[in-house]
Amino acid sequence: MTRHTVVLTAHYPSIARDILAPHADLIEHPTEHERTEEEIITILSEADAAIALLSDPLTRRVLASNPNLRMIANYAVGTNNVDVEAARELGIIITNTPGVLTEATADLTMALILAVMRRVIEGADEVRRTGQCIWEPLHLLGVSLQGKRLGIVGMGRIGNAVAERARAFGMEVIGVRRGEPLDDLLATSDVVSLHAPLTRETLHLIDGAALAKMKRTAFLINTARGKLVDEAALCETLERGHLRGAGLDVYEDEPRVSPRLLTLPNVVALPHIGSATEETRSAMARIAATDVARFLRGEPPLHAVT
Ligand code: DGY
Repeated sequence: MTRHTVVLTAHYPSIARDILAPHADLIEHPTEHERTEEEIITILSEADAAIALLSDPLTRRVLASNPNLRMIANYAVGTNNVDVEAARELGIIITNTPGVLTEATADLTMALILAVMRRVIEGADEVRRTGQCIWEPLHLLGVSLQGKRLGIVGMGRIGNAVAERARAFGMEVIGVRRGEPLDDLLATSDVVSLHAPLTRETLHLIDGAALAKMKRTAFLINTARGKLVDEAALCETLERGHLRGAGLDVYEDEPRVSPRLLTLPNVVALPHIGSATEETRSAMARIAATDVARFLRGEPPLHAVT
């Protein structure tokens, strides 16, 4: 029986290797930096199947570069790094990892809401810097979550999980689904949280005009995809004091983060860790590897997006 080769484009949780080792020869390429198209073509050149990262550019050129490559499990729920249309045309199966990162991402969204509204990072930095705990009536005043309105853009799995948590904090929640108008949500929400996938339609969904519609006192939270927001317009809006703050886990040009954002004390910037819990990353690896193993055994993968 021919033994297949599966390329792992990063060092994934060990469960992925445990599941795949009986079925295939594994080649692992630990990530040191973001890969170019050229590099990913080289990495995938020996693969019959692969598990790939959300930062791997799976363009038409990459997908067409190796005729033996028949399946890629994208280690993410988002598939915006994949030319899904090209994969379909080339007959390459693409899978993703839905469901298992809902709770972790919703938790991190709440962490960002709390961090910006209650100025958690500013406070923690101050204690480290000064070695003191200063209690003064007007020191580091934030805003209560209780009674504030949270506007959720993208009421899918993660949006709904955030809504459930926010209600427990006493927030009033409104939400829009794909394609529904945003104006009312933007104009009336105290916090706007983004949970939409990145598509042609949602690229720069939150541009300068959308930001101008938000309340001066509102906060913007993004744990979805950086390109949903026009980052230059966000910097400009925050610099002129139109928004009260922003909590970001994702950026327009990852892995780069705009230096302008980092000069603003009312911005909390995290390094795309929405799904970064041991449980979630292992569950993602299990789903991705199980689908690759199913494919190698001639069974249909359970999470195909093509
Ligand atoms: C995803 O799966 O799309 C997330 O962004 C990974 O954290």
